[in-house]
Amino acid sequence: MTRRQLIKSVIAAGVVSFSGPLLPLLAGATHRAMPGTVERLVTLTVNGQKRRVDILPQETLAQTLRGKLGLTGLKVGCDRAECGACTVLVNDVPQYACSILTHSVRDKAILTIEGLTRADGSLHPLQQGILDEQGFQCGYCAPGFIMSTLGHLKTNPDPTRQELARGVSGNLCRCQDYDKILTALLRGAEYMRKG
Ligand code: FES
Repeated sequence: MTRRQLIKSVIAAGVVSFSGPLLPLLAGATHRAMPGTVERLVTLTVNGQKRRVDILPQETLAQTLRGKLGLTGLKVGCDRAECGACTVLVNDVPQYACSILTHSVRDKAILTIEGLTRADGSLHPLQQGILDEQGFQCGYCAPGFIMSTLGHLKTNPDPTRQELARGVSGNLCRCQDYDKILTALLRGAEYMRKG
């Protein structure tokens, strides 16, 4: 064998052995996570849209929504399930996005405050109620309160003041303006009932 033939055979062997593990991918085979691991590239349903996103196994929903999908309407206050600023709806139920793993909601419908945006640019009735009653001071906690209220109204569309207070009791306001907040949320609930 000449030196040229030897080099060609070595290169050819190297290409074959290197490409071996890639061939199924190049052929369009579906990648599956190894047993005991989780998929990284997943599809989430957020605000009615399918979103493909690369996530880490320990990533929280708040990290994914804010950091990777650009949905910064939800806020992260305590980051440990105490303040409720990160509340979103998961299958219509209010959840703290800081405290659930993104992997656990892959097959569920996620609704964030951005999902309340209407095609004609008008405000959602809950938001209109807050605006009309000037319900918040700094407003940092407002998205969480709104999403908790929305979740509560799914099961109790015409709550008393006390019932709604209980419904949003998982949300804290550091401006401590709970009375005005409740008045505003009840006004929004009224607007929702009127359509
Ligand atoms: Fe999630 Fe406070 S940031 S509960």
